[in-house]
Amino acid sequence: MSICVTGGAGYIGAHIVRLLQQAGHQVIVLDDLSTGVPTRIGDATLVQLDLGDTAEIPRIQAALDGCSAVIHVAGRKQVGESVARPAWYYQQNVGGMANLLLAMQAAGVDRLVFSSSAATYGEPNVARVREDIVMKPINPYGESKLVGEWMVRDAARAWGLRGVNLRYFNVAGAGWEELGDPAVLNLIPMVLQKLQHSQKPAIFGDDYPTPDGTCVRDYIHVVDLANAHMIALDYLERDERPFDAFNIGTGNGNSVREVIEMIGEVSGLDVTPEVTARRPGDPPVLIGDVDRIEQVFEWKAQHDLRSIVDSAWRAWQAGPRRIAL
Ligand code: UD1
Repeated sequence: MSICVTGGAGYIGAHIVRLLQQAGHQVIVLDDLSTGVPTRIGDATLVQLDLGDTAEIPRIQAALDGCSAVIHVAGRKQVGESVARPAWYYQQNVGGMANLLLAMQAAGVDRLVFSSSAATYGEPNVARVREDIVMKPINPYGESKLVGEWMVRDAARAWGLRGVNLRYFNVAGAGWEELGDPAVLNLIPMVLQKLQHSQKPAIFGDDYPTPDGTCVRDYIHVVDLANAHMIALDYLERDERPFDAFNIGTGNGNSVREVIEMIGEVSGLDVTPEVTARRPGDPPVLIGDVDRIEQVFEWKAQHDLRSIVDSAWRAWQAGPRRIAL
């Protein structure tokens, strides 16, 4: 089958592309290459375009010719940036979804897996967040992802789109050394960058109401996450599809301190942290309830925190930012 992956040259997208290729699919990547790297997609066809540009709809439609499904990963994902530039986030994430759906309908492509986010939940005051709680995103990034989910639902009602929204928790690690996360925007790369510069890793606040005072998150290995997309494609083939949103996480939480300590164990480096001020907008705990995906997809995360950190470390050391030991 031919599958289109938007954002396929990015960190997560490239893992999905690799698994699709291993499964024997033809892959077409739509990517503006603003953060994506073309060498990451192997022999997939690359169409470079900005999904948020309405003038590109004909090119999107042409690229979709012959595709049986789209996995829509492309999007902006920085919370702080979304607060500073909300209209641009709506243009990119919501406008990009609108243009994609218009092109899909015109091209007769009716299967869509959408990369949503746990940021759509906001700050739920529960131990594990279920898919059916009231959605209260707290920033334009989370809002734009939630609107994207609504657009998938509305297209299903209007013209029979078969869509599914996957709500990612904290994605980390690398499936292949050359596919590590090139950005330094999340905890593990931020700690590694500090270590690279012989600085202490920062803990953004240790006075949260959690067991060790630092924030707790549900870290999911990028290969487990990418595998869930393969199953999502199969799910879209089913006639009975009771749910249109699924959490992708492990159901387990790890604190910032535990992650930093694991980086120390895996690397052998001194990771003594320094505690700095809280970062505004960080919920104390965000862990996914994964009962739904485990039952309906018969999918379960295979990798634990050690495996995630170990793979992230190996990928970091294989790249240009290698830390001298
Ligand atoms: C963030 C976004 C989330 C987005 C995800 C994807 C927020 C509130 N959430 O998740 O919506 O989907 O990125 O990129 O911004 N930390 C430190 N020291 C560091 C770096 C991070 O203590 O040097 C802490 C953070 O305060 C947080 C935890 O580590 O408690 C995880 O941070 P991060 O990896 O940035 O992810 P989230 O903030 O959970």
